[in-house]
Amino acid sequence: AIDISKLRAQSGLITMDVGFKNTGSTTSNITFLDGEKGILRHRGYSIEDLAEKASFVEVAYLLIYGHLPSTEELDAFQSEIRRHTLVHENIKDIFQGFPASAHPMGVLSSLVTTLSAFHPESLDPHRDAEAVNLTIIRLLAKIPTLAAWSYKNSQGHPQLYPDNKLGYVENFLKMMFGLPTEEYNIDPALVEALDKLLILHADHEQNCSAATVRVVGSSEASLYASISGGINALWGGLHGGANQKVIEMLEMIKADGGDIQKYIDKAKDPNDPFRLMGFGHRVYKNFDPRAKIIKKYCDVVLDKLGVQDQTLDIAKKLEEAALNDEYFINRKLFPNVDFYSGIIYRAMGFPVEMFTVLFAIGRLPGWIAQWKESREMKQAISRPRQIYTGPALRPLVREEEAV
Ligand code: ACO
Repeated sequence: AIDISKLRAQSGLITMDVGFKNTGSTTSNITFLDGEKGILRHRGYSIEDLAEKASFVEVAYLLIYGHLPSTEELDAFQSEIRRHTLVHENIKDIFQGFPASAHPMGVLSSLVTTLSAFHPESLDPHRDAEAVNLTIIRLLAKIPTLAAWSYKNSQGHPQLYPDNKLGYVENFLKMMFGLPTEEYNIDPALVEALDKLLILHADHEQNCSAATVRVVGSSEASLYASISGGINALWGGLHGGANQKVIEMLEMIKADGGDIQKYIDKAKDPNDPFRLMGFGHRVYKNFDPRAKIIKKYCDVVLDKLGVQDQTLDIAKKLEEAALNDEYFINRKLFPNVDFYSGIIYRAMGFPVEMFTVLFAIGRLPGWIAQWKESREMKQAISRPRQIYTGPALRPLVREEEAV
């Protein structure tokens, strides 16, 4: 067994907090989160108010620049974003190198890094605020284009150019689902639903991907590289990738005859790696306020879109069973934002592999705001310590040389 106290003495005074369960990495004035009470606020505005009264682009502005935009500021912000929705034509050729089976999160993170090759001025860490702002606008403008194009590529369909007469969400939906051969009628119910979902994902203080963005940025790597790091962190099943895994789990339960209790028992079994995806959260020890909004919205959206989905019934039953089970009660495991979002995404027609990409589009303003704040406060390079548990000094003698 490892004697931690001895190792600690050898390494000097080090605070051990694996997974940073109780370690603050920064001060921040962007997002307030009270996990015990289930409160989430951005720049002082409650998530409930923002989801009800603001648009996603407004929330993006709020997170990045610190205040709600005036009408003129919002207009200027939107037209700046519109001006930059196109990506360099050579990027279309890069798409052809990806197999159709490529996961769109991998494609997206690669292409976001690639953007730095097309905008090399972004590599200078000491650029003025105007130049930094241009990169921010480019990211907000181009990521929906790259995301939609990665889907088109997976389908073998032609990529559609952005239509800058349209709003942020409309434009993305058209590039996703439109075809050059026919008129694409944008369903306002779809636009409203996606806009709300993006708001609900916009920021969440020092989560795994935002912390990654700040860590990468702390070395003065470019904003593109930092955001690409965030996308990769989000991809994992314990973070943003959970929304894909929730639907896969619900489908598995459905295919297995809908035996809820069997899966509750599996999740409780310490010898079974199975976890109830979309349940539990590092910070929330109460209802995730975003999950509450999404759950309510799920019925409304499915109704509006005229979709019947058996997995929604399974999800509701699963939630009820878990909320009444000692195991989940004692560990304060509640549904998180991912539990119901996938059901809405699927009702909207998105394929499962695109779910985490939608999360990335929503989280982008939060990542940018976190990066901007950390750069403005000249946050020191992130460099945690460790306690070494490997071999002590030994002579370099190969096995065959040893007599
Ligand atoms: N199903 C069953 N048991 C769970 C679950 C779950 N979903 N989540 C946590 N537990 C149990 C753990 O086994 C552990 O039990 P133990 O004390 O008997 O060992 C206890 O609850 C604490 O769990 P930890 O893993 O220590 O908590 P942590 O804060 O490290 O993990 C996490 C949080 C990763 C979100 C976890 O709850 C999980 O894996 N959930 C499922 C994946 C998921 O939904 N991720 C999305 C999170 S939200 C987001 O990123 C947008």
